[in-house]
Amino acid sequence: MKRAEAALSIGGLDVVYASSRGPVQALQQLSFDVAPGAFVSVLGPSGCGKSTLLKLASGLLKPTSGNIALAGQPIDGPRREVGIVFQQPTLLPWKTVLDNVLVPVRAMGGDVRAARERALDLLKMVKLDQFAGHYPHELSGGMQQRVGIVRALVHDPSLLLMDEPFAALDAMTRESMMVELQRIWSTTGKSVLFITHSIPEAVFLSDRVVVLSPRPGRVVQTLEIDLPRPRSIQTMASPRFAELSNELREVFARMDLG
Ligand SMILES: Nc1ncnc2c1ncn2[C@@H]1O[C@H](COP(=O)(O)OP(=O)(O)OP(=O)(O)O)[C@@H](O)[C@H]1O
Ligand SMILES: [Mg+2]
Repeated sequence: MKRAEAALSIGGLDVVYASSRGPVQALQQLSFDVAPGAFVSVLGPSGCGKSTLLKLASGLLKPTSGNIALAGQPIDGPRREVGIVFQQPTLLPWKTVLDNVLVPVRAMGGDVRAARERALDLLKMVKLDQFAGHYPHELSGGMQQRVGIVRALVHDPSLLLMDEPFAALDAMTRESMMVELQRIWSTTGKSVLFITHSIPEAVFLSDRVVVLSPRPGRVVQTLEIDLPRPRSIQTMASPRFAELSNELREVFARMDLG
């Protein structure tokens, strides 16, 4: 059955936070799937519940009602099959690049020696193998974010969760990171749930874009991105890219963003 096979399946999800000012509904009746190996972006205005969705998928938060499952298994806590990339690289300044990458392996009590080999291979993939012994302050923002991606991949998760990972980067670095992430994704075959509020980022990277409404986040539109792969910076200048981006812009224009 389709639902059981999805890398991530979300059905009828509601999240209500209890706060001192009363209940805050963050997500409402959210339903969508991420197929194995697919790249799905969730696009939505600030405060619509995107990070909340990521907390659910990473097992840090339980839904108020509804289902969320990883390859058919309900998520009831942090899982090894998931890798997370945060908005900021959050590297430990006193550890080298290689030791930063190995942090989750040590935390999960994994085989550090085997992971070292894998970490070095992954650092090579993002062209940072020469920097394994460097410290974070010796790297640029884009390089640090690449280390963050390698750290999320080191325990070989099947699903990669990314919460606006390029938001803190300058426009040029962001574009090269988009191309880089596409390459990593196509090389590793991971399923990706990518959170963003950038339309070009979502269109460039995704197989499918799920648009959320302002809080409480509901799915207002799902758009299949049929641009051929691999996509390049030139893809962004193509008429089809503009068409898809405009379609998403119109969805936002119709929303009341208060
Ligand atoms: N622990 C909490 N308690 C109460 N309300 C919360 C809590 N965490 C988040 N919220 C509220 O839930 C809503 C969704 O928050 P969330 O962080 O998921 O939004 P977001 O879409 O990631 O926003 P941004 O794009 O700004 O990162 C917001 O209105 C926020 O104030
Ligand atoms: Mg957020």
